[in-house]
Amino acid sequence: MSFQSEIVKWYFVNKRDLPWRETTDPYVIWLSEIILQQTRVEQGLPYFLKFLENFPDVKAFANASEERVLKLWQGLGYYSRGRNMLYTAKYVVDHFEGNFPTAYQDLLKLKGIGGYTAAAISSFSSNEKQAVVDGNVYRVLARYFGIEEAINSPKGQKQFAQLAQELIQDQEPAIYNQAIMEFGALHCKPKSPLCNQCPVQPGCYAYQHQKVEQLPLKLKK
Ligand code: ADE
Repeated sequence: MSFQSEIVKWYFVNKRDLPWRETTDPYVIWLSEIILQQTRVEQGLPYFLKFLENFPDVKAFANASEERVLKLWQGLGYYSRGRNMLYTAKYVVDHFEGNFPTAYQDLLKLKGIGGYTAAAISSFSSNEKQAVVDGNVYRVLARYFGIEEAINSPKGQKQFAQLAQELIQDQEPAIYNQAIMEFGALHCKPKSPLCNQCPVQPGCYAYQHQKVEQLPLKLKK
């Protein structure tokens, strides 16, 4: 079985039930992804539910005052995320007739949305074949494929992005993206990864070369 099939198979058995995985609404996925930037799932979940309850769609969000948004954001930190969200909600109402975009290239035009978030929203909402590359994905790919370029060097970023995009397949890119992130978060963890019960251990470069602890490489800046 291929690396990708093993990861997806693992995912169906081990995944957490998270509410943003039950929807294809790009607005709801956007809410979750912005809240989860720099925030752990357990901390972000109640905020996600609170924002969705207060602003069930992008028009409701766009009509909010900045004070209200920042008040709801209280405790999450990085308040520019909340401000950017309000700006983006208004932008979507003004420039996309209130229809939150699902296409990767459209999403990149929005404030606060970079390559990772555009790939997440476009794949999860409409199965566009765009590979997500977050910290979890860097770790899984560096270890399994033995990539020794630093994840924060320009050369490394290009190599990881290229490999990730080669791996994502036509079938269910959304599920594969969720699966590899979840595998990194729960199984191929930074500390004490579960190598002894790992479905891809036989093909894992880092495991075979005793480099699990060293990879991924990151340059101190
Ligand atoms: N962190 C960021 N995006 C996530 C997602 N879709 N599922 C779980 N954790 C995440």
